[in-house]
Amino acid sequence: MKRPPPWKKKRPPAPEPGAGEERMRLNRFLARAGIASRRKSDELIQGGKVRVNGETAGEPGRTVKVGIDRVEVEGRPVWLPEGHEYVLLYKPRGCLVTRRDTHGRPTVFDQIDSLRPGTVAVGRLDQDTTGVLLLTDDGELNFRLLHPSRQVKKQYEALVSGKPDASDLLALRQGVELEDGPTAPAQVQLRGGDDYEARLEISIHEGRKRQVRRMCAAVGHPVKRLKRVTFAGLGLGRLKPGQWRRLSPGEVRSLRGRAGLGPS
Ligand code: URA
Repeated sequence: MKRPPPWKKKRPPAPEPGAGEERMRLNRFLARAGIASRRKSDELIQGGKVRVNGETAGEPGRTVKVGIDRVEVEGRPVWLPEGHEYVLLYKPRGCLVTRRDTHGRPTVFDQIDSLRPGTVAVGRLDQDTTGVLLLTDDGELNFRLLHPSRQVKKQYEALVSGKPDASDLLALRQGVELEDGPTAPAQVQLRGGDDYEARLEISIHEGRKRQVRRMCAAVGHPVKRLKRVTFAGLGLGRLKPGQWRRLSPGEVRSLRGRAGLGPS
């Protein structure tokens, strides 16, 4: 087929005035700026505490042009933070690490109401595993933290059936045979228990699917409860299940440093 000459090619339509600017619902804007949750932000808006370009914003559904509209809460200007987003969630039991579940089950993204659309979890935890889950839109950091060459340490507390004996602990430490190959050496400590169940502290740097559960099952002690207590040196601190916080600039610096990256 003959190509049309360049002057006959259809040009893309000229952009509408204002195209390309980011619009965001006001309650989401306030939540992202760290003012309050979306629900509380709606209350602030309805209470007449929020002004946009000098005018009281009464309707919770209104949108703002990010970086263009001037937003104030009780007379104080509000901005969105620049740079990437880094969030640490205490993942509760029963929710999935996925953006949306086709069966409508709860996900970790339901726990946090103001995340940027590009923010994703760094790795996964099973539905029934609790503990540290990092979420970020810093793709390079995410990639590096999960790359096997980085050997990022993940520490777990596992409640297992029965009491592992010395040979079980040795096997876990040296590596057990799983269907996708032997596991790398792990640090494993018995932290108490009785003949029915025992607590293990397990540190690994691999990140295979259901790895800790499969390791414990392989030595005859299936996991009853599993919690990730640290990831890349980040712990839960005072967070309770379902609570989250943003990382401090110092934590971001050291995390990126650990991954061989400079400041973001
Ligand atoms: N290992 C598991 O078995 N499950 C998790 O969620 C994380 C590590």
